[in-house]
Parts: sequence; C-alpha cells; structure tokens
Amino acid sequence: MDSKSYLKNSMPSKFCLTLVALSLILSACGSGQEVQFVASEGEQYRPDYHFTPAKGWMNDPNGMFFLDGEYHLFFQHYPDTTVWGPMHWGHAVSRDLVTWEELPIAIYPDSLGYIFSGSAVVDTENSSGLGTAENPPIVAIFTYHDMAGEKSGAVDFQSQGIAFSTDKGRTWTKFEGNPVLPNQGVRDFRDPKVSQVVNSEGKKEWVMTLAAQDRVQFYSSPDLKSWSKTGEFGQDTGAHGGVWECPDLIKMSTPDGKEKWVLLLSINPGGPQKGSATQYFIGDFKDGSFTPDDNMIRWLDYGPDNYAGVTWANLPQSDSRTLFIGWMSNWLYAQVVPTQSWRSAMTVPRELSLIDVNGVLLLKSAPAQELESLRQAGIEIDQTSNLPSQAVEIEGKLDGSDTFSLVLSNELGEKVTITKEMGLVSIDRSQAGQSDFHGDFAAMHSAPMSWKAESVRIFLDAGSVELFVNDGELVMTSLLFPNSPWKTVELQQGIEDGVVYPLEK
Ligand code: FRU
Repeated sequence: MDSKSYLKNSMPSKFCLTLVALSLILSACGSGQEVQFVASEGEQYRPDYHFTPAKGWMNDPNGMFFLDGEYHLFFQHYPDTTVWGPMHWGHAVSRDLVTWEELPIAIYPDSLGYIFSGSAVVDTENSSGLGTAENPPIVAIFTYHDMAGEKSGAVDFQSQGIAFSTDKGRTWTKFEGNPVLPNQGVRDFRDPKVSQVVNSEGKKEWVMTLAAQDRVQFYSSPDLKSWSKTGEFGQDTGAHGGVWECPDLIKMSTPDGKEKWVLLLSINPGGPQKGSATQYFIGDFKDGSFTPDDNMIRWLDYGPDNYAGVTWANLPQSDSRTLFIGWMSNWLYAQVVPTQSWRSAMTVPRELSLIDVNGVLLLKSAPAQELESLRQAGIEIDQTSNLPSQAVEIEGKLDGSDTFSLVLSNELGEKVTITKEMGLVSIDRSQAGQSDFHGDFAAMHSAPMSWKAESVRIFLDAGSVELFVNDGELVMTSLLFPNSPWKTVELQQGIEDGVVYPLEK
C-alpha cells in the first residue's frame, strides 16, 4: 500500500456493498436474463482451493515457515471489516498446500502499533535465547506501524519488532525489548524478511532485508535481537513508479548449477498493469550487500493481481524447492471488489526456479506440484467443452504456431479471452462480469513473451484465473467477477489435446 494512503482508506464497506447489490439487480434487468447469484448470498466468489479468511479483510502473506509437517501461512488481517484497518497477523496451516485450516489470530496490535508485514524463522540453535536448546523458538519479525505517530506527521512511525512461539506457532509472546530495530529516519521502513546466511568467514548470521521507501536495506544479527546495517540496494536500479515493499532475498541455483541470489521486491503503484506488482533482481549477495547482474526490469507475474508474495522458510532438507505464495489482489481496487463477508484470496502456491531464456536468466513460477492432487478424471476438450464446476484446471499443448486463443464464457454472454498473438500473451477481462466498482478493472492485460509458447495451464476458481505458459515461464494472475459461473471453454486456435480437470479437495 502507498504509505500516504494509510490514513484515508477506510471506505465504508456497507456503502460499497449497496452499490454492488444495486448494480447486480440493474444489470439483471437490462439483460433480461436470469441472474443466478443474489448479492445477499454473499459467497459466490468464495474460492474452493485458494486460501481466504473466513471473514474480514486480508492482504499480504506473512511469516511463512514449515515445521513438523505443517506449512504455516500468516497474513495481514483485519477481522472486523472487509476493508483495511488495524493490522493483525491472521494464521492458517496446511499439510498439503491445498487444504488450509484457519487458526486463531496469531499477533494482535499493541501500544507500539499495528502489526504490519514481516517474516518468521525457526531459530533452531536458539540464538535468540527466546526458547531452549530442546525446544527452539520460532521468531516472527514484523513492522510496528504507529498510527498516532503517522497522524501527527512524524516520519519515524515504523519500526521492527519480534515475537516468539514455543508451541508450533499457536501462541506468540512479544519480546520485551521491542522495537529491535527503531526507525532510522525513513518514512517507509518496513516488511522485514529474515533468513539465515553463511557469511564469507563461514559463520551463520541472520540477514534482514527491509524495504526503505525507494530501496532495500540489509541488516545483520547474531541473535535476531540486535541488528546492524550492512548495505543498501536499488535507489538507482529497477522500477520506481511507487513505494518499494515486501522484499525477499533467496539463494537459488542457475540451470548450470551456479549460485545466484534473487531479490523479490513489490512495488505500489508502478506495476506493468497499473497499481501493484512484484519485480525481481538476479545477482550476488556477499557480506551484506547485493549486486545485480544487470539493470533489466523483470516482473514476477504480468497479471494485475499478484502482490507482496514471499517464500516459505525452513522447508525440510529433502525438499529443495523454493515455494512462494502471493496476495491475489491489487491496491488499486482491493478494498472495493464485490466479495461480501471477506476480501481477498492468496494465489495458488508456486515453485520458483531460475531458467535461461536465450542467455537471459528469468524466474519461472510453476504451480506447486501438490495442486495435481486435486485433479479428478480429466475431460478431453473437443474444441468446446462444458466446465463441470468453477474449480478447474485446463491444460493444453500448443500446435507449434506460437499463437493461441481460448475463451471462457457463461450463460450471460460474459467472457474472458486468453491469447498469445504476435509475441504478446494477454488476458482480456473487459467483458468478464462485474467491473463498475473501479474504472481500471475492465481491461485487457498483455505481457511480452519473445520465446516460444509450448503449453498452457490455466487454474480457474471462483473469482480468479491464473495462467501458466510453459508451466510458468510466463505467468498472469487475474481476478474475475462473472455474474454467473463460467460454463464453457472454447479452444479457438493453436491448442491441441486440451483437457479439463475438475479440481476437488
Ligand atoms: C503491502 C503493505 C506492506 C505493509 C502492509 C500493511 O501490501 O502495504 O508494505 O506492511 O501492506 O498492511
């Protein structure tokens, strides 16, 4: 979120809901067709296999770690209304990345402020002393946002605090010495992502990557409690159409086995489709400083609706994957989208890896393999096929022409067109249902793909579509609010062997 807007974003949700209900009724009258959903039912956009909170507002994923068979997902949460407000860390766990159980709120705001985004680490060696050697603590590192300080016009209203859990993330205790990293005179000073790194002397240290307005700052700590600055990056590199937020620093391997560091960096506004988006840099991280390989601007996901995503910590040694999840929305309209009892879902979990496309390194985001466990018996698409439910995966091979086109449509004549033509991959949601809640929603979004498209995988759920070309070499995530469920997929051009898989948990 743009730092300037924290003060003015409590649009009354009832007003929005009334508008949405009215527009539904009006569009039903105008078309002369029966609208299948009534706004008061309120759940028509509740996804089947994407995580949503039971009620209230959600934005960024936070503090993700794996421990004892559970993937933990925390999230920016305001349980009392469906718009942004005093931030808590909500909490959910999953054993398989597709079925989520929401647990009680993990971290509440306190006298130091709202609890903004951050990360969590399993402090296996109890370096913080907040647990014991036998029962090491999990330490969450988050931003305190002091609303009163912001209102008074101060610049130092964001600082970093920690909390710890010794019961597998179920309950959290705030550290008495908070904040552990006071504000350093920067208005936007937030979203700490901490990981353990082996330094050039062969010693383990904690590294914090922090967003500081138009750059990231790096800090180092032996114990998660005392932090010293080691470097900065980005003031003159990358996209700068908005504030930098929610960084992540990840060690990865290139296809030929070289070590590289990937820095994810969310930016709002200034994304390629307006509003929020996540860029990334590839380079080296050494002794607390990051050096990019080049000045190229790279986007993680070319759709409008994947923001503030970060990766899971502490995956088991047997799992060498880099697993990511993002917030499936955009600050442009996140607070006015037509869902009723809750707002926002996460993307599907994705596996990140580096690929080499004609000598250029890029980050691929493939659907996590766990999603395959949802597949029911596939239905071959004979040019056109009925969709058995709102939760499906559509998979197809391309015929070699590097051009494709498919259309999803419903009984009201609403449609989404997904294409690759003349080197541009596009999702056109300009006629895909409800859009009058925001002037920028009904649009066609395009992304350049100079190399050959060979396959598509499309994950459809109530309220969204996620397109993975070549299993994630190019990705587009897009929210959709049809007035009636998608009923038909039509393969118009370029796709052979199309299959629809109903997805069920
Ligand atoms: C990104 C963001 C973060 C901040 C949080 C507040 O979406 O603006 O920078 O910590 O949301 O909810």
